[in-house]
Amino acid sequence: MTHTPQAEADFAPRDWKQHPPYLSPAYKSTLLRSPSKPLIPVKQSLLTRSGPVFGHDSLGELDSDLTKNGRVNGEPLGERIIVTGRVLDESGRPVPNTLLEIWQANATGRYVHRWDQHDAPLDPNFFGAGRCVTDDQGRYRFTSIKPGAYPWGNHHNAWRPAHIHFSLFGPAYLTRLVTQMYFPGDPLLPLDPIYNGIPEGARDLLISRFSIDVTEPVWALGYEFDIVLRGRNATPMEA
Ligand SMILES: [Fe+2]
Repeated sequence: MTHTPQAEADFAPRDWKQHPPYLSPAYKSTLLRSPSKPLIPVKQSLLTRSGPVFGHDSLGELDSDLTKNGRVNGEPLGERIIVTGRVLDESGRPVPNTLLEIWQANATGRYVHRWDQHDAPLDPNFFGAGRCVTDDQGRYRFTSIKPGAYPWGNHHNAWRPAHIHFSLFGPAYLTRLVTQMYFPGDPLLPLDPIYNGIPEGARDLLISRFSIDVTEPVWALGYEFDIVLRGRNATPMEA
């Protein structure tokens, strides 16, 4: 198959000035999981662009509201937040019809997962996962609870800053990007090996902005977080 210039641009190689390296020794799990041999590039083909796509009609009404989609017998506990932003290409053009999935700890810093044995309470009314599809302007919006910090086994007294995990699906299942969003002013950020594993000039792109315009009176604090897919301002993505 002959690649058109557009196709070459679509599959531009990873920019290591922007994204975290596979191996970041202070982030202990990368010692085991990073490749020890040179990578073999896999040829892209139409197959990667011809899979199923996602649309608004495949979403449930409560999918983007994490304060409602896990309710059993009441409201989840914690600080209510709205997280919104746009998915943009390198020229600032909106990227519509992108499926965003998020997952996060509850307000106490505990995930609903059998591997999470952190001694902090689960919230029976908070599941911690949601999804939505970007609109014509590339915009997404979630309502949730501010996640708590949690300890992890990376090193002595290691705590993850509050964060929300994001996954983006492009036009096919193989076009997936994964990243994490942080909150402004978090004192744990400078101590976090995952955050510090991102090239210095790019890591701040993962910190959301508090927005009084997004904040809803008597309801929830608002945060904005744009995701840029390529270029100088590309949002760092996990390998
Ligand atoms: Fe996490």
